[in-house]
Amino acid sequence: MGRRWPALRPLTAPLLLLLLPRALPGAHCPEPCSCPPDGALRCPGPRAGLTLLSLTYLPIRLIPPQAFRGLNEVIKIEISQSDSLEKIEANAFDNLLNLSEILIQNTKNLVYIEPGAFRNLPRLKYLSICNTGIRKLPDVTKIFSSEFNFILEICDNLHITTIPGNAFQGMNNESITLKLYGNGFEEIQSHAFNGTTLISLELKENAHLEKMHNGAFRGATGPSILDISSTKLQALPSYGLESIQTLIATSSYSLKKLPSREKFTNLLDATLTYPSHCSLIISKLQKSEDTKISKSSSHLLRVTNSCVGATSAFKVPLITVTNSKVLLVLFYPVNSCANPFLYAIFTKAFQRDFFLLLSKFGCCKRQAELYRRKDFVAYTSNCKNGFTGSNKPSQSTLKLSPLQCQSTTVPDKRLANKEC
Ligand SMILES: *[C@@H]1O[C@H](CO)[C@@H](O)[C@H](O)[C@H]1NC(C)=O
Ligand SMILES: *[C@@H]1O[C@H](CO)[C@@H](O)[C@H](O)[C@H]1NC(C)=O
Ligand SMILES: *[C@@H]1O[C@H](CO)[C@@H](O)[C@H](O)[C@H]1NC(C)=O
Repeated sequence: MGRRWPALRPLTAPLLLLLLPRALPGAHCPEPCSCPPDGALRCPGPRAGLTLLSLTYLPIRLIPPQAFRGLNEVIKIEISQSDSLEKIEANAFDNLLNLSEILIQNTKNLVYIEPGAFRNLPRLKYLSICNTGIRKLPDVTKIFSSEFNFILEICDNLHITTIPGNAFQGMNNESITLKLYGNGFEEIQSHAFNGTTLISLELKENAHLEKMHNGAFRGATGPSILDISSTKLQALPSYGLESIQTLIATSSYSLKKLPSREKFTNLLDATLTYPSHCSLIISKLQKSEDTKISKSSSHLLRVTNSCVGATSAFKVPLITVTNSKVLLVLFYPVNSCANPFLYAIFTKAFQRDFFLLLSKFGCCKRQAELYRRKDFVAYTSNCKNGFTGSNKPSQSTLKLSPLQCQSTTVPDKRLANKEC
């Protein structure tokens, strides 16, 4: 088609441009629907064999109650790329007993989804509402799905500012995953997740999210995984952290302190960004025996790409820990391997693993050798800026100081920084 453009006569080109919006790919109104411009969408059933309904680039303004009435076999409904859509009314998606997926995406003028718009959808497994203009978290409390591992995705809705109490109550009676990212959230209220069983709660990239009520997790089971990366949260709620196994908080520069370690009774793995732009990895070790620690420690080392290059002005942080079982590693990216590492090490077994690992990259070979010989007493820092981590596992405060790594190759992909 591109090749034909130069051949068009001057008058034909503007004419074609005028017609172009109607000729957008996928802009046709599918059977059995009617899609009147600036009107209400209606897709009456029954319709044997209709399982997928894809409604894109449609000129409709409204999705009225019972819009899909009788479409008993429909499994997936997708509504996207409609600039004219403004409102979804109560009972719009009502009693669709086979419906498993609803996607509403890229409808920037959709400002209102009435309460009860999604009602009685027992097979619903995936509801995604992304990049719309809605002002309030959509009401999902009348869905009553009984599907296992329900996924709710609410993303890139810049005008939703609050997650109110009981927001997900009644959505699903089994376990759920909440992917709530890139929204305008500023606040999460008390009991927000009341009545849910949360596998994973993703709150990343809610760049304005500052406040999470202390009782936000009240009445909820879980979450096992919590991701608050790239938010402005300054603190986590102190209640409800016991179920968290994985905590991810990269680029969470406002998160200056964590609740006490005792609250994280099941924490296995945490990736945090310290205010100093460095990535902090905390891992709780299930067993305190050195052998187990030794076994697990090497795969706990991770480097995130959120780290920025270190400067010599870097301030040495003090990290207070109350439980000697916690393994805490503060890490700079192996960024062309000229930047300092920071690390704190709680056990001798871990120190040994750490140096053995570094020695693979050509760093701290002497320490590694010393540890290989189990010659702990002879251990002294050989690295440029020295290492003053405590050797006493029971010490409650660790001082971290920069350590220069001189290696130039990083063979392990997991440890390699993109800029390396
Ligand atoms: C779900 O769809 C199947 C066919 O795909 C149909 O036989 C069945 O009746 C539908 N269920 C309901 C509750 O309508
Ligand atoms: C969820 O609801 C379904 C249908 O009512 C039921 O069979 C199932 O046992 C319920 N699950 C839980 C965990 O209560
Ligand atoms: C929490 O949910 C339960 C039902 O699951 C309800 O009875 C209770 O009122 C809710 N609590 C608050 C504070 O909203």
